[in-house]
Amino acid sequence: MQTRTLGRTGPTVSAIGLGAMGMSDLYGPADETESVATIHAALDAGVNLIDTADFYGIGHNELLIGRALKERSREDVVISVKFGARRDPAGGFTLTGADVGAAAVKDRLAYTLRRLGTDHIDIYRPARVTPDIPVEETVGAIAEMVEAGYVRHIGLSEVGAETLRRAAATHPIGDLQIEYSLLSRGIEEAILPAARELGVGVTAYGVLSRGLLSGHWSPERELTTHDFRTISPRFQGENLEANLRLVDALRGVAATVGATVAQVAIAWVASRGDDIVPLVGARDRERLAESLGATGVTLGADDLARIEEAIPDGAASGGRYADFLLAGMDSEK
Ligand SMILES: NC(=O)c1ccc[n+]([C@@H]2O[C@H](COP(=O)([O-])OP(=O)(O)OC[C@H]3O[C@@H](n4cnc5c(N)ncnc54)[C@H](OP(=O)(O)O)[C@@H]3O)[C@@H](O)[C@H]2O)c1
Repeated sequence: MQTRTLGRTGPTVSAIGLGAMGMSDLYGPADETESVATIHAALDAGVNLIDTADFYGIGHNELLIGRALKERSREDVVISVKFGARRDPAGGFTLTGADVGAAAVKDRLAYTLRRLGTDHIDIYRPARVTPDIPVEETVGAIAEMVEAGYVRHIGLSEVGAETLRRAAATHPIGDLQIEYSLLSRGIEEAILPAARELGVGVTAYGVLSRGLLSGHWSPERELTTHDFRTISPRFQGENLEANLRLVDALRGVAATVGATVAQVAIAWVASRGDDIVPLVGARDRERLAESLGATGVTLGADDLARIEEAIPDGAASGGRYADFLLAGMDSEK
């Protein structure tokens, strides 16, 4: 497995990371035994970056990863944890505010360490920033945890260029986790250039646009309560039909490259720079093997031109999140 270093100060990680969210939340029912087997298969294949959040499955995801890592050497794994999103007892998300103040950082980190069964987190990051809490307060509080040895690197998630600059002026930032795919290229204008200027790496999520760009999505797929795609504009009605036509165009390119649609979508993100590490949301070993196959896909100039033709910048129908969620996102300001 090739490696990439996250920014000027971040850790060196596998060229593809595994995002574990779908093993506990938001993408329908998952099988716990298969989830653990998938994490083990990823580690065996050389994937060392595992991304989670304390609110994924309301603690379930961290407990799952903790269980999977029990038989493995802790130093072989780079664990990235997001914190701050609030949940309600029915499993929904509380959409106002986020627990990212100084007191919350220590409290939430304490629970995370215990659930993961570890004494440190490699990258700790607020899932979202919120206007009432300055990013300097959040980053400053995590910096104290770095000083105390509980955290190795500080990351951010879905922040805009200005917030990134303020954060980086407070403490070195290893990476920014943000959505980036053939269907979501908004970071190219200001955020990616700022990250590069500041020496901040990028861990890209949504590289398959939540399964839409995987080549496996079908309009017949039934969605359960709390599946993210029930409220994602890109998965609704005519938007979905239009987006699946783009996937068909990409399928044509994939055939000429000798790869699957998902592999081309992942390889495209990886091709955007050595400072970018795609996270894949594989929930079983089959999908994982397909995703990791992307590391063997080299896209030449002709391939990239044909991909661009199949899915031009801005071609997606529907926003990457529902409007009420985009409204509160720092990266969308
Ligand atoms: N910072 C943030 O705000 C944020 C937000 C969302 C996610 N994330 C992180 O990013 C990770 C990845 O999530 P994502 O939304 O970016 O997922 P994604 O990779 O865009 O999509 C994952 C979905 O694609 C489907 N899929 C089909 N073929 C696949 C293949 N070959 N490989 C992988 N998945 C395939 C999976 O469903 P089936 O298994 O049902 O086919 C899964 O539901 C998460 O686990 C989380 O760690 C971060």
